[in-house]
Amino acid sequence: MESLSIGVLASGRGSNFQSIIDAIDSGYLRAKIVLLITDNPNAYAIERARKHGIETLILIPKLSASRNDYYKKISHELKVREVGLVVLAGFMRVVGKPLVDAFRFRIMNIHPALLPSFPGFHGQGQAVDYGVKISGCTVHFVDEGIDTGPIIIQAAVPAFFEDTEDALSERILTLEHRIFPEAIRLFAENRLEVVGRKVKIHNHNPDNSSLVSPQISG
Ligand code: GAR
Repeated sequence: MESLSIGVLASGRGSNFQSIIDAIDSGYLRAKIVLLITDNPNAYAIERARKHGIETLILIPKLSASRNDYYKKISHELKVREVGLVVLAGFMRVVGKPLVDAFRFRIMNIHPALLPSFPGFHGQGQAVDYGVKISGCTVHFVDEGIDTGPIIIQAAVPAFFEDTEDALSERILTLEHRIFPEAIRLFAENRLEVVGRKVKIHNHNPDNSSLVSPQISG
């Protein structure tokens, strides 16, 4: 079986990108990352790609004639490299329709909140300000909306009265690094089926699944 070719879009630090690189290197995930695309020339993700010999394209949105053109260009670059899954690892933009259409249910995003609560930017800060007692992260397929696509895995952490956005973010990030590779692995193993707005996970083995993600442990 051919291994899955992944294209990653990232805007910044790239710790989730690194968690995917590590999952592949350790043999947990059978896939290869064929391309990193970033919208930010200063993203630390670029350095991570360089260290691992991953091709990188820096595509600056304002150099495209329109938002649609920008996402057409991204789709083209992914298609010519025969990418099977597009992974948004801290890509701080709402993905345009040309890309969503070209990779329907083949784009995954990680969001630092328990969707559908607190979509958009600063999910962790929104949760702190709201005063929730439990927060977490969500891996979902990307559709036209803002963090509205079918949910693949979620994981929860406690939120405390004294939490700052940074403190909660750090607690959530540890779980992001666990469930993102897990969701990608399920995709690579062809075990995800989108049914309406839900995702069915096939043949899950409770012993192998993350204890913090009830969808695959129950
Ligand atoms: C992560 O916490 C990710 O969930 C979040 O940005 C951070 C990126 O960190 N993404 C979003 O907020 C998307 N709306 P990283 O660059 O170290 O992976």
